[in-house]
Amino acid sequence: MVAPISKTQLTVLSFLLALALVLVLGSAQYGFVSAMDRKLLGLKKEKFSHFRFYLHDINSGQSPTAMMIIQPPANKSKSEFGSVSTIGDPLTEGPELSSKLLGKAQGFYGLASQDEVALLMAMNFHIVQGKYNGSTITILGRNQVLDKVREMPVIGGSGLFRFARGYAHLSTHKFDPSNRDSVVEYNIYLLHY
Ligand SMILES: *[C@@H]1O[C@H](CO)[C@@H](O)[C@H](O)[C@H]1NC(C)=O
Ligand SMILES: *[C@@H]1O[C@H](CO)[C@@H](O)[C@H](O)[C@H]1NC(C)=O
Repeated sequence: MVAPISKTQLTVLSFLLALALVLVLGSAQYGFVSAMDRKLLGLKKEKFSHFRFYLHDINSGQSPTAMMIIQPPANKSKSEFGSVSTIGDPLTEGPELSSKLLGKAQGFYGLASQDEVALLMAMNFHIVQGKYNGSTITILGRNQVLDKVREMPVIGGSGLFRFARGYAHLSTHKFDPSNRDSVVEYNIYLLHY
């Protein structure tokens, strides 16, 4: 047999119920967060893709695509620690600049190590071809440029790359020490919708 509840228990219970009601109504009223159905955003099955781009970092000539905007004070360190550049580097299908333009790598890199030539890179790959036209892939990572293969995280994206994540493997295809122009191969492994 179930014991009948006492008056005190009833009071406590009604208080708790009232509190729960206030909380539920309150959250409905101000609702800064609500559950979403991923189908509403057209998020179906997650895909895993490999993209390959060649990035052209051009410092020389009439229209450089990389521009140093902060110079290291007094050129003190060998690693050029402190310098920062803005980039709008073409991304092409093949290693030649004349091959099909797939997009631009837009952002910044700075020399962020006092001991080695290592960049902090923050950039968006703005794609201009095919169904990805207008979508972006965002990369933020450390690039120790003299290493054969470097890895940087892909931390997100926009458009068709919403919720994207993965990593990029970089290797220098070509480097001209006289003007520092370079062509870098990017192999990006991406989970995306
Ligand atoms: C640093 O070196 C570069 C190239 O050698 C030169 O153009 C620049 O003026 C130097 N900057 C300073 C602050 O001395
Ligand atoms: C990409 O989108 C832009 C802006 O909507 C448009 O002007 C351009 O023609 C498109 N390019 C391709 C290759 O579809």
